[in-house]
Amino acid sequence: MTEMNAPLKPLTQLPAWSKLAAHYGAIKDIQLRQLFADAPERTAHFSAEGAGLFLDYSKHRITEETIRLLIRLAGEAGLQDRIDAMFRGERINLTEDRAVLHVALRTQRGESILVDGENVVPMVHAVLDRLASFAEQVRNGTWNGHTGKRIRNVVNIGIGGSDLGPVMAYEALRHYSSRDMTFRFVSNVDGTDFAEATRDLDPAETLFIVSSKTFTTLETMTNARTARAWLVQNLGDDGAVTRHFVAVSTNAAEVAKFGIDTANMFGFWDWVGGRYSMASAIGLSTMIAIGPDNFRAMLAGFRAMDEHFRTTPFERNLPVLMGLLTVWYANFFGAQTVAVLPYDLYLKRFPAYLQQLTMESNGKGVTLSGTDVDYQTGPIFWGEPGTNGQHSFYQLIHQGTRLIPCDFIGFCRALNPVGSHHDILMANLFAQSEALAFGKTADEVRKEGTPEWLVPHRTFPGNYPSSTILADQLTPEILGALVALYEHSVFTQGVIWQIDSFDQWGVELGKVLAQRIIGELCSEEEPPLGHDSSTNALIMRYRNKRDAEM
Ligand code: F6P
Repeated sequence: MTEMNAPLKPLTQLPAWSKLAAHYGAIKDIQLRQLFADAPERTAHFSAEGAGLFLDYSKHRITEETIRLLIRLAGEAGLQDRIDAMFRGERINLTEDRAVLHVALRTQRGESILVDGENVVPMVHAVLDRLASFAEQVRNGTWNGHTGKRIRNVVNIGIGGSDLGPVMAYEALRHYSSRDMTFRFVSNVDGTDFAEATRDLDPAETLFIVSSKTFTTLETMTNARTARAWLVQNLGDDGAVTRHFVAVSTNAAEVAKFGIDTANMFGFWDWVGGRYSMASAIGLSTMIAIGPDNFRAMLAGFRAMDEHFRTTPFERNLPVLMGLLTVWYANFFGAQTVAVLPYDLYLKRFPAYLQQLTMESNGKGVTLSGTDVDYQTGPIFWGEPGTNGQHSFYQLIHQGTRLIPCDFIGFCRALNPVGSHHDILMANLFAQSEALAFGKTADEVRKEGTPEWLVPHRTFPGNYPSSTILADQLTPEILGALVALYEHSVFTQGVIWQIDSFDQWGVELGKVLAQRIIGELCSEEEPPLGHDSSTNALIMRYRNKRDAEM
């Protein structure tokens, strides 16, 4: 066992944990109004900056003692050792016996990170160079379709990390994308996804990128086969596959078996987790959309945050602070969820992206040593862009019965300056965090002349915590930094909770059962069913209705 794997004391037996529990008891009713009245300069204490992101965490129910104890907890949990172990390429994904090196995807040429004695940085850059050359060929029309027509449409076929990163990044960086090309993302095995994505596309102008780490994922392979049939049927030639299909995968054998020439495959490695893969070859669609230079700028943003995380003292370390605050609310206040509220429509898929990143990573109930946890782990992440969410679910955050810490994300300069839209947008962001923190007392409501019976309804309790992340503008660099911020926050949480943030065994059972039921639904003879009575009855009803005359 390496030092990193030396058994830790259980989390709840760490001295800082007991101190935090006692501290929570002392300050749980503390009011943000009071904290700000006592220290008007509070934001100067509770803010930090790094990689182009400014984090204001002053509107949290914390004191300097809270941060001191949380950082002590991080120390007792061995956070710095674990960070160093990740960057050294140690196999910190214990249950899969793998290194965790998405940070290597963002290194500069000439750096060195060893996995099993081999420096992986040159491999990373060799793939990046091939990706850049291919992306340029598609963008400038050197890579044409089978009939000689220029490629105008790119369809990424993938799911989970092989979809959410690409689609989120495409939407986020659409401002920088080639507007004479169409980008579509097919993930769902629901035939509607493929049908709608391709209905108005000319096959002769369409390139499919089949993105799958394993190249065995049911949804992706089903969609890829459908895409191949659609292409071959429309172009009337099996040979068309060569110019219209490329693969992104770690599994060359399966790529070849599918019929894609491995010369048209872009690789990555088992030490890149699916949900951590958007900076790898999985980003091919992003690179074609925004061009290699912008893609490299995004990598530089990731790298800046990686370096910030690796080297900045915890007191000023953005991902560490955000991760510890998540622990504070999840474990001491019993908060069940975190709302992520980007005030930028380009970030509309960011909450969905974060759901896989956070919940597939930290949705774990056993520790690294295999014992059940006796505390809460990963909260539910969710959200929508502002201001739309304000007219939908914010009511519950303001006046409901739950404590929902919020992350507001905003930019000082608009990418589409239209009149005063951006000021209005940002005014709303600032107003929401202010309203959540300070609310409106019954007396304030009364003073407005509100009849007494209506006062309770119009009172805002306030004292709801939020972080605000501000950046100058949504650029490729900033997107990289933002994603890395959450990646490392998730890492921090996982280290505190002593779980493996890099496996995902919980998705396996459903896959196995689905395979069995596929056999029962798709075979001619309809085999007898051996499930529980509910599942049997549902399958029988489905079969009968499906096969009935309409
Ligand atoms: O089933 C979950 C999962 O394994 C994710 O972790 C992953 O991102 C996704 O499926 C897709 O996997 P692949 O890239 O191998 O198709």
